Amino acid sequence: MERELALEFVRVTEAAAIQAARLMGRGDKNGTDALAVDAMRAMLDTVDIRGTVVIGEGEMDEAPMLYIGEKIGDGRGEPVDIAVDPVEGTNLVAKGLPGAIAVMAVAPEGCLLHAPDMYMEKIVTGPAGRGVISLDAPIEQNLEELAKRLEKPVSDITVVLLDRERHQEKIRRIREAGARIRLISDGDVSPALTACVPDSGTDMLLGSGGAPEGVLAAAAVKCLGGEMQARLVVEDAEQEQRVRQMGLSDPHQLLHLEDLVRGDDVLYVSTAITDTDLLDGVHYGPQFCSTHSVVMRSLTGTVRFVRADHQLNRKWPEGRPVTHSRRKS
Ligand code: FBP
Repeated sequence: MERELALEFVRVTEAAAIQAARLMGRGDKNGTDALAVDAMRAMLDTVDIRGTVVIGEGEMDEAPMLYIGEKIGDGRGEPVDIAVDPVEGTNLVAKGLPGAIAVMAVAPEGCLLHAPDMYMEKIVTGPAGRGVISLDAPIEQNLEELAKRLEKPVSDITVVLLDRERHQEKIRRIREAGARIRLISDGDVSPALTACVPDSGTDMLLGSGGAPEGVLAAAAVKCLGGEMQARLVVEDAEQEQRVRQMGLSDPHQLLHLEDLVRGDDVLYVSTAITDTDLLDGVHYGPQFCSTHSVVMRSLTGTVRFVRADHQLNRKWPEGRPVTHSRRKS
């Protein structure tokens, strides 16, 4: 994929984040999502790609925009798979809590797992976990192996989990092993990325969350040289059939990073809506608003942090920042 695309896509997540952040703390999950979807979809039309949404807002009959299978871009260039989540952490935005992002990943056609909207069991670590952690190993063993690689005691390892009833057993065992825990209320993509960054304060992400979010996280993990393993949580025959339809002959198979994101050419882009571990959320000034994004490319391993000030026109919030009217006048 053209390397310039990486920066093109920042405009896309910036646009979604700017719109979503307007409704921070207003308790309006659906309204937030609608604004972000609209902004992201409009901005995607300005990018020179031949894209297909493989992870989006739902099936064609469920979502008016960014539905799975929707064609994106002006039809130029190589065909690419696009995974989007205009608001990852809708609850977080609705409550004004940290950790919400607008996020997307792009890879050559056929390289992103077409994960349906179901749960996925995940384990993520930074590069230190490569070759030593396993989703099938006992938690205690994974903690010990990672601690050895990081040259620190298990008591200094920090694990992030979604604060859910289904994770109680894992939480108990992590505590018994002596490791530290950070429980989050929503949004497991951003902490997956943080777990891959050395000395970020997070060493491992564990537990089940959304499968689409798992693929988005895998794109970031691949760019950062981290380790991730996953398994779809198949709850009934219908889900099992859907998983088979998307090309997995064994719906219960252990998914390695390469199964989630194939090849070396994936782009990951996210813009913070509210503050995250690594990024500042959208801030509004009198004439402009500022955004903070990260753009990563697995081919080169480049990680760029992009801060931008966007001039606001008078029609805000219905209008768009003037910096976004690049192609269409
Ligand atoms: P939304 O942004 O779609 O609300 O998803 C947020 C999220 O917290 C994901 O980050 C996570 O993977 C998933 O939901 C967890 O699902 P659940 O809330 O059902 O445990």
